[in-house]
Amino acid sequence: MNLIYKLLVITLATLLSSSFSNAQAVNNVWEGAYTEEQAMNGERLYQEHCSACHGSQMQGIEEAPTLKQGAFIYNWDDLGVDILFQRIRTTMPLDDPRGVSRKIKADILAYLMSENNFPAGKIKLPYQNSRLKRIKWNAQKPTDD
Ligand code: HEC
Repeated sequence: MNLIYKLLVITLATLLSSSFSNAQAVNNVWEGAYTEEQAMNGERLYQEHCSACHGSQMQGIEEAPTLKQGAFIYNWDDLGVDILFQRIRTTMPLDDPRGVSRKIKADILAYLMSENNFPAGKIKLPYQNSRLKRIKWNAQKPTDD
């Protein structure tokens, strides 16, 4: 009896907390700012539109820098994701920035996040600046306080 009661409480608590976090907006790239499916789609699009210059592993080639870890993630530290998105939107691919749509670039950015070990979540990364600017890019996971 006691055990069943405990299990029931645990199940209810899990259900409640997951529906609660579903409804909550994502404020940080560490909170799951894109979906796994989106990043998988983004990988294909990255290979199509970006890899010729940045490399198939994002390792960087000549002038085109790596888009992974270190200098890259710190370049955008403590800024809204809209800033990085705007940079990609207005200047990348370097040879044809207008040739790739916002939606495609949002999926590519989702892939970039997954390659930089930011966790996936339940909501797709949006492509609207007004929504992107509410999500903060922190190079390191902020500590709870
Ligand atoms: C024709 C070559 C080329 C292509 C294609 C290209 N890039 Fe770039 N990218 C560069 C070069 C060169 C730089 C560095 C010089 C500059 O910023 O203009 C750069 C810089 C960047 C930066 C800034 C890096 C940093 O350290 O902050 C980002 C982000 C970026 N590219 C993303 C992308 C994405 C996403 C795509 C695909 C949609 C893409 N690039 C396609 C050549 C390219």
